[in-house]
Amino acid sequence: MILVTGGAGFIGSNFVLNWLVQSDESIVNLDKLTYAGNLKNLASIQGDSRHQFVQGDIGDAHLIARILKQHQPRAIINFAAESHVDRSIHGPEDFIQTNILGTFRLLEVVRGYWGELDAAEKRDFRFLHVSTDEVYGSLAREEAAFTEQHRYQPNSPYSASKASSDHLVRAYHHTYGLPVLTTNCSNNYGPFQFPEKLIPLMIVNALEGKPLPVYGDGQQIRDWLYVIDHCNAICRVLEAGTVGEVYNIGGWNEKPNIEIIHKICGLLQETYPDSSFQHLITYVTDRPGHDRRYAIDASKIERELNWKPADTFDSGIRKTIQWYLQHRSWITDVQTGAYREWMEKNYAGERS
Ligand code: NAD
Ligand code: TYD
Repeated sequence: MILVTGGAGFIGSNFVLNWLVQSDESIVNLDKLTYAGNLKNLASIQGDSRHQFVQGDIGDAHLIARILKQHQPRAIINFAAESHVDRSIHGPEDFIQTNILGTFRLLEVVRGYWGELDAAEKRDFRFLHVSTDEVYGSLAREEAAFTEQHRYQPNSPYSASKASSDHLVRAYHHTYGLPVLTTNCSNNYGPFQFPEKLIPLMIVNALEGKPLPVYGDGQQIRDWLYVIDHCNAICRVLEAGTVGEVYNIGGWNEKPNIEIIHKICGLLQETYPDSSFQHLITYVTDRPGHDRRYAIDASKIERELNWKPADTFDSGIRKTIQWYLQHRSWITDVQTGAYREWMEKNYAGERS
């Protein structure tokens, strides 16, 4: 069986659901259930004996040791993290706690567990760390996309904390021989993404007739990948990646934010021809330290592991919008008091 951390969040829950479609191998899913974790994401596998959920923290060494002893996983996939740049600007502490200290504590316990496996199990064990392209910093418009050799130059508390965790994972391989793999992926979108991130926020606000807040000039570029493509890439790296290696994952799909927002408005208009959405677009104060451009060169994973994205942006964004249209109660359920407080904090005051 495998252990997944953060499997009630956006990418983790998509990974768990996608895994169980393709495999009969069981999953233990450890998640703290922060504001971003949602058991409703896993409702369709309720009662499936191949999935066991445990609420807890990756930094809880006793709990992790108990899970490893009980379930003896052959692999661990670490999705658990604080993941939102704007929240890391308002309050970096949780990012340091989970992304740095939490990953460190997890690695320490895993090192002990791995050290006691027999030779064959030791050789076959994998610790796959899920990371982000944001560790590489920001690109100028004419610069080549990030390869695995690009220098680390994180600019936000979020990316600095992820960079730190990547370094720890690397060090546990070089120093202790732990069989690790690291993936650095570009921006994901798709079902179950919490509506604080760009794409779901724009869909949800547009449906509610609320402003669509564009930071700065809206010309910042991200490289968008449909979440199931990311999940399949992780499966491929787990299956065939070379221990100690890093794999960049991306969609070959760079787009300025304003283009994404216009696309969403246009697609919503197809569903609701009598409504208009473009007039909701509102330019607001920029994010401090806002990275201008991310772009992934995903040629290594294509060349070595024969992975490339299956969805185009057009097919992925259409599926995503359909999903949000068909899951209105999921949206309402996540719009708790805490969500409203966050929206107030991030978008009112100096930004409005
Ligand atoms: P998310 O915020 O939606 O989910 C994170 C999950 O981790 C939540 O379920 C949360 O409850 C859980 N969690 C947080 N702290 C925890 C802790 N201390 N112990 C156990 N569980 C904890 O994030 P996501 O967008 O699904 O991202 C998952 C991973 O992928 C993260 O490591 C992130 O850095 C990385 N990543 C995300 C993107 C993206 O576009 N979303 C792109 C590249 C990489
Ligand atoms: P986000 O989804 O937060 O991902 P990241 O910052 O990790 O790339 O934001 C994606 C882009 O969209 C980023 O350039 C910031 C911008 N953005 C807005 O313009 N308005 C918003 O309300 C949000 C949440 C993001």
